[in-house]
Amino acid sequence: MPPTENTSSPHIGASAQTGASPHIDTEASAPAIEFKDVEKRFGKTTVLENLNFTVAPGERVTLIGPSGSGKTTILRLVMTLEELTGGYIFIDGRPLTFEDRDGKRVELPKKTTRAMTTRIGMVFQQFNLFPNMTVIENIIEAPIHVLGKSKDEAVADAKSLLERVGLSEKADEHPTRLSGGQQQRVAIARALAMSPEILLLDEVTSALDPELVGDVLAVLRDIAETTDITMLLVTHEMQFAREVSDRVMMFDGGLVLEEGPPDLIFNDPSHERTRSFLSSVL
Ligand SMILES: Nc1ncnc2c1ncn2[C@@H]1O[C@H](COP(=O)(O)OP(=O)(O)OP(=O)(O)O)[C@@H](O)[C@H]1O
Ligand SMILES: [Mg+2]
Repeated sequence: MPPTENTSSPHIGASAQTGASPHIDTEASAPAIEFKDVEKRFGKTTVLENLNFTVAPGERVTLIGPSGSGKTTILRLVMTLEELTGGYIFIDGRPLTFEDRDGKRVELPKKTTRAMTTRIGMVFQQFNLFPNMTVIENIIEAPIHVLGKSKDEAVADAKSLLERVGLSEKADEHPTRLSGGQQQRVAIARALAMSPEILLLDEVTSALDPELVGDVLAVLRDIAETTDITMLLVTHEMQFAREVSDRVMMFDGGLVLEEGPPDLIFNDPSHERTRSFLSSVL
């Protein structure tokens, strides 16, 4: 069973091969993420149906849309925290959980899927840090146990990441002693410690007091400016979305209602549904 977002053992956004570990071959010019005829049902409820979209390598795409439109579900499917009930998801051109074999939809071995998700990091609204570990222990856990880094290397990397998110002095604290904004910056550092090729961000500032939002967004802006990590994000911070996004996709009822560059979607949307959604969040 895949780990879930709300259990006490948080899923560590896993991610890319770094340094010594070899890169898995990718199809040249394949999208970083592709949804092909994706269907997601929870019991009898169909949340996504025939959903098709791609995200290019290095592209930053923001998902917007009303509550319940399926945004979180999309991110959780990419992270393999939800089981895909129909269709296919490809990462760098390779099937993630199911593949088509002579017209038959076949589930891939868990090992194959796991190897692919090490290249994907996710940050949740509720941080999901390990409460029983210090900040630095949270960050080095996956690099050591998943990527096989030495403890010295993992600690050195974690320290430079903590510096990057402005929390060098908190390395030995427990997460409960940090503010929400600080915990979220640790969660971002933890995701980055795996050198992800894809970073999924689900309303990462929504649980924060307004005065703590700025620091977290500053960290994300810095990542957007200084890396070529592919980013798929859900946010209600429209100014931030406008700054970092190459493309905004408006979802409604599990389908892409419209998409385009942020200026177009925010200033001149084609659909009344988008206009009313934007006026409700702006
Ligand atoms: N585990 C689950 N079991 C049953 N239904 C679920 C489950 N998770 C999500 N859903 C349903 O799937 C739909 C899409 O949920 P999702 O969380 O993806 O929406 P969202 O766009 O992220 O909404 P929000 O803006 O409120 O976060 C909702 O109708 C929700 O009730
Ligand atoms: Mg959501």
